[in-house]
Amino acid sequence: MSDIIYFDNSATTKIYPEVLSEMNRIYSSFFGNPSSLHRLGGEAEKVLLESREIIAKTLKVSPNEIFFTSGGTESNNWAIKGAARANKRRGKHLITSGAEHPSVLECFNFLKSEGFSAEITKTDQSGLLNRENFIEKITDNTTLTSFILVNNETGAIQKAEELIAAIRSINKNTVIHIDAVQAYGKIPLDLRKIDADIVSLSAHKIHGPKGCGALYIRENTRIIPILHGGGQENSYRSGTENVPAIWGFAIAAKIINENIDENRNKVRRLKSIVISELDKFFGSGEYFVNSPPDAYEGIVNISFKNVKAQVLMQHLEAESIIVSTGSACSSRKNMQSHVLSAMNLPMERTEGAIRISFSGMNTEDEALMFAEAIKKIVPKIRYR
Ligand SMILES: Cc1ncc(COP(=O)(O)O)c(C=O)c1O
Repeated sequence: MSDIIYFDNSATTKIYPEVLSEMNRIYSSFFGNPSSLHRLGGEAEKVLLESREIIAKTLKVSPNEIFFTSGGTESNNWAIKGAARANKRRGKHLITSGAEHPSVLECFNFLKSEGFSAEITKTDQSGLLNRENFIEKITDNTTLTSFILVNNETGAIQKAEELIAAIRSINKNTVIHIDAVQAYGKIPLDLRKIDADIVSLSAHKIHGPKGCGALYIRENTRIIPILHGGGQENSYRSGTENVPAIWGFAIAAKIINENIDENRNKVRRLKSIVISELDKFFGSGEYFVNSPPDAYEGIVNISFKNVKAQVLMQHLEAESIIVSTGSACSSRKNMQSHVLSAMNLPMERTEGAIRISFSGMNTEDEALMFAEAIKKIVPKIRYR
């Protein structure tokens, strides 16, 4: 066990040792530009092709539907701007919800400046879109809908198959984008069953490298590039591919997707240890679980009455336990989590909310040590 108890796996994960050593191998021996016509280029291109095949296989799609990007943020930007612009002659109405990651919400806000009617619908109490509100907004002019599959702050899982069927029954031409950054490798994601057109992925959430991700684009989906240049990625995403990172992503994807059940059982066990320890210690109304009961168990959002999350986080850090107060982006700006605010939770639940996010690398001892630390710290830092 390392000295640090790392429970912030939704922000990023520690790279798998196998991934790091494989990336090293590619960096040293396969450093050619995959677009070059010489032997070194050809070798790098082979690595790229194999990576594409590996990622495609995990999603049960075709390799020519996988496009590598610099991560989840770029994938979301491309999906939303690229599909909105490509379909604007058919309509300019776009729908998402307040439960989304900023890389989706900010694209929606930005697209208003291009004349799109970009609507952000209500969030329900679990941290997912409000289904009724989302569905009732869909019209013949809705060319794009975008939703998150596993919420990064609460772990809430969207029932995608049902929602997509409902969307398509109203407007079968709407392009459907899913932000699966927190879902990929954590819950099964079979794109033969989930009828989405575009899906965003990121490598560093699955023990792969940072700055690498992918966009699944179903064949015949209308989308245009946002990066223009040398015509890489079948002319859809220019820029020399980061071959070592992409290979690292593929290796991480392979490992994590082969271990979904095992990892999920593990994080379920860790969650139940933490919750049962806290249940035994705190009286009712002293602490709250903000994640819905059927959330992905690797993400647990909890708050303590009369405790400021920042203060709790700092005390935990002094004990070498790393958690977060929400998504990494909003916590640095010291802002209230937009998802928890959109969930309409009372102030006492939002101001004291911390997010614990586990991975298959965590241990039961760590979960127990975390619970012990909470029991020691919380009574000391309550402000009333
Ligand atoms: C749901 C979700 N979407 C998108 C992103 C952005 O991914 P990246 O950090 O690879 O840009 C994140 C990262 O926190 C996320 O949690």
